[in-house]
Amino acid sequence: MARRLSHRHMDKPMALQSAISTVSHAGTAKGKGGQIVIDRLSHVYRPPHGKPVLAIEDVSLDVGEREFIALLGPSGCGKSTLLYQIGGFLPTETGTITVDGKKVAGPGPDRGIVFQHFALFPWKTVRANVMYGLKRMGLPREEQQRRAQEFIDLVGLSGFEDSYPSQLSGGMKQRCAIARTLAIDPEILLMDEPFGALDAQTRHLMQTELLAIWQRSPKTVIFVTHDVQEAVYLAQRVAVMSARPGRVKAILDLNFDRNDPHLAKTKPFVDKVDEIWELVRSEAIKAQAGKAS
Ligand SMILES: Nc1ncnc2c1ncn2[C@@H]1O[C@H](COP(=O)(O)OP(=O)(O)OP(=O)(O)O)[C@@H](O)[C@H]1O
Ligand SMILES: [Mg+2]
Repeated sequence: MARRLSHRHMDKPMALQSAISTVSHAGTAKGKGGQIVIDRLSHVYRPPHGKPVLAIEDVSLDVGEREFIALLGPSGCGKSTLLYQIGGFLPTETGTITVDGKKVAGPGPDRGIVFQHFALFPWKTVRANVMYGLKRMGLPREEQQRRAQEFIDLVGLSGFEDSYPSQLSGGMKQRCAIARTLAIDPEILLMDEPFGALDAQTRHLMQTELLAIWQRSPKTVIFVTHDVQEAVYLAQRVAVMSARPGRVKAILDLNFDRNDPHLAKTKPFVDKVDEIWELVRSEAIKAQAGKAS
């Protein structure tokens, strides 16, 4: 049984082991992550009314197999756009995206996405939402139910299995969406501000859970956040995007020991957070002034 998300850390390793091994036994991705190559990608939105919007321009980025990369940048710089394109939810007109050498032409089970705005099925309960992807994978119903429960417990939603999204708080909806994506154990996890609606304590617990999941069952993760400290804590590399049209402005390698409980207080960690914060801040100022270069 996976543990319920609680403020006690004591029983985490065994519970996570259980959750992850359950997934592995079910025969999906077994710690194998996909390689993503983004080459000179641009995207223009053409709304039916109003002017076209160049959201991202000339973005090139390689994300290695099983790499955990965080994507930072000012609001409106195109982070979600980039994630939707990698997920195959938006067409690619200029430039290319390949996953394991194959051009992305649409969504696929190799890429799980946690949308910025949750995107739960409002007519389905928490359990049915989490089971949705498992059903599509063709798992036997009992296995779907067992695995859904593991991840509902993992994100602390036990007792709310039969609730509908409208009966949940924003943070609970977000945790439900996270459970739904983690349950299918995709090779690639695309997470768009997945912890944005959570209170500080739950957010910290979810960060720890995600890191543990990634360490036990490595997969490629692209994690969008506005929280520089979160990015530095979780990721192996951080890509900072410029103000719109978003480009990759800087890529920084991080080599911290994430198992160090005092990591966030160490000088190298704090210095790195400051350095990245400065990069993001200067772009945010440009975005506000509407003079992105
Ligand atoms: N469907 C759309 N039609 C027209 N323009 C759009 C559409 N979606 C996004 N945009 C524009 O594209 C730009 C990038 O949007 P995007 O949502 O990718 O930014 P973001 O970096 O994810 O921002 P945030 O941090 O606020 O989530 C913005 O200027 C936005 O107004
Ligand atoms: Mg966004």
